[in-house]
Amino acid sequence: MTQSATPETKHLYIETVGCQMNVLDSEMVVAALRKQGYALTQDPACADAVLFNTCSVREHAEEKAYNNVLRLKQLKLAKPELVIGVMGCMAQKDQQKVFERVPFVDLVVGPGQLHRIPELIEGARQGERHQLAVSLSRREGSAEEIKRSHETFDPLRDPQMRPTPFQAYLRIQIGCDKFCTYCIVPMTRGPEQGRSPDQILQEAKILAQQGAKEITLLGQTVNSYKWVDGDRTTRLADLLQMIHPIEGLERIKFVTNYPKDMTGELLQTVRDLPKCMPYLHVPAQSGSDVILKRMKRGYTTADYYAMMDRIGEILPGAAVSSDFIVGFCGETQEQFQETVEMVKRCRFKNSFIFQYSVRPGTKGAELLQDDIPEEVKHQRNLDLLEVQNQISLQDNLRFLGKTVPILVEGPSKWSVRKGQTGEFRQMTGRTPCDRIVVWDGNMRQTGEILPVEITDAYAFTMLGRVQTHEVVSGVSQVAEPEVLSLGSLTTNRR
Ligand code: SAH
Ligand code: SF4
Ligand code: F3S
Repeated sequence: MTQSATPETKHLYIETVGCQMNVLDSEMVVAALRKQGYALTQDPACADAVLFNTCSVREHAEEKAYNNVLRLKQLKLAKPELVIGVMGCMAQKDQQKVFERVPFVDLVVGPGQLHRIPELIEGARQGERHQLAVSLSRREGSAEEIKRSHETFDPLRDPQMRPTPFQAYLRIQIGCDKFCTYCIVPMTRGPEQGRSPDQILQEAKILAQQGAKEITLLGQTVNSYKWVDGDRTTRLADLLQMIHPIEGLERIKFVTNYPKDMTGELLQTVRDLPKCMPYLHVPAQSGSDVILKRMKRGYTTADYYAMMDRIGEILPGAAVSSDFIVGFCGETQEQFQETVEMVKRCRFKNSFIFQYSVRPGTKGAELLQDDIPEEVKHQRNLDLLEVQNQISLQDNLRFLGKTVPILVEGPSKWSVRKGQTGEFRQMTGRTPCDRIVVWDGNMRQTGEILPVEITDAYAFTMLGRVQTHEVVSGVSQVAEPEVLSLGSLTTNRR
């Protein structure tokens, strides 16, 4: 969205990849830069500052980020005053290496130092080169100093940067201490720290006042959230209780869950609070005990199946989704087959499937051999996806003829691709259990919760028809349990 500009208005182009944490970080950086007189542009050629918010979770994401930055070389030569910055997890991981690979980058800023971006951009405009602002590494200081260096500045928000103005992310936890052997996140995001319940509640209220109907609480292991104040401990279930009464708020979700911390108490809280959506993202990563141990995930397949049973008992019909890594070090065909069995048995709504990518700096890179050939990883990815897609399709088909309450997000991806304009467009939204539905609708429906009858279903999407133009906000969620008890299915979070 290019905005009307006064002569002094400066323009910012920002590109974001990675997880919801990065989406939220970009929102905050944009909010901070707007205060400095920046407006957004969708064209780097019109920008005074270009920022790349990067992800390090797989090598492929990093290579793409470097290529995207390198593509700006001509532009920077033609316009040397253009400030180019690399922020996010790759900035934290590669630090000076970013300047070595792309010498025309002006700033490299880790996710814990984003509050410095306005000042650093100003510095670059004054001619300073190669400014580096990163958090301390895991061994570079006292525990307290390291934590402080990873703190973010969440209260500054920009509603216009949200996925939609009606949906907002709210970070409740920074960093991760689980150290799964494949994963770079504990290095890029630093130690696990909860934010204070007061701050979280205050921010949730502001978001609701700004029009957010759906809030998604964010943390790498969001259900491990813990805040200790004297003899009082606040956990995720308590936070849900605290934010549930907020007026205007209609849907509460939380991602990403850690299997071991999916307690009965949390599930009961989700069951008892109508605004908590019956959708849980709980990555299993593998269906083999040998591999789970090698990944240092801290649970066995028996633990995971017991958790699924618990979910089934307390929240019957809730949709569960997962992540899997295929081709992890030493994974045999039999062990991969155990993952296939897990997907069949758990019938996930959807699964995000990734081919293992060695991350320098992790225990996996140091101690284990990445010995599964790329073509085998690729084949396992395809095979597992096919099994998952079958399940997703079967479960979606069960919604045919049912009417579900949909929070309308806006025009569908198809509509945007086709360049549809005007009032009437193909619209998209989600069911309480996070399934995507599209229908021929109109832009005025955006942000409403509407009853939509499902008329057709595919593995990733369902098609529907709005039953009435009457808005059912507030009472809408009651229709769902009946539908949910029919089974589970899909989305694309990343
Ligand atoms: N905190 C979340 C996941 C963060 S990373 C959790 O614990 O579930 C998102 C997903 O990327 C992970 O669930 C995992 O499936 C995948 N992933 C992480 N590191 C990876 C690597 N080195 N190679 C391939 N996939 C990886
Ligand atoms: Fe990475 Fe494991 Fe932490 Fe998730 S729990 S962010 S996979 S180290
Ligand atoms: Fe990527 Fe960092 Fe998120 S590595 S997945 S952007 S926490």
